[in-house]
Amino acid sequence: MSVEVKNGLDIKKTIRELIKQHGTERAELIPIMQKINAAFGYISSEAIEELAILMNLPTNQIFTVATFYRMLSTEPRGKHVIQFCESAPCHVAGGRQVWLALQEALGIKSGQTSQDNKWTLLTTSCLGACGIGPVLVIDQDIYGNVQPQQVKNILSRYE
Ligand code: FES
Repeated sequence: MSVEVKNGLDIKKTIRELIKQHGTERAELIPIMQKINAAFGYISSEAIEELAILMNLPTNQIFTVATFYRMLSTEPRGKHVIQFCESAPCHVAGGRQVWLALQEALGIKSGQTSQDNKWTLLTTSCLGACGIGPVLVIDQDIYGNVQPQQVKNILSRYE
């Protein structure tokens, strides 16, 4: 069976290292999964199986966590993940125009990943920053009061 490797990282070795750092308490599952997601772009079935063995948890429990949290994915994502707030306060602050500008600049729609694997575009409900809407988040960076004409400039900050 082939071993999943990305950016020179071997999934099983990476998980063993993370378990060494975090331990196997149930509370450490999400922080470990966030790191796996960041390193590999998603949580693969191989990663879920390895976590289940090393943390002594049922695979379906790990799968449920991986599919519950929007910051985690069981499908490969692009290098950068954009989350665009589609809740009403951001919408009335001009979110629709920003959303259209984003899709046009990226050439993809909600839930899609660009062909070069650079971008994944997602919508999200309120991010708790309604006072600065429209809001979008790229990886860990939050952008508020975004205007459609700023979209290309914001995207250009990412390699
Ligand atoms: S509605 Fe967009 S951050 Fe709250």
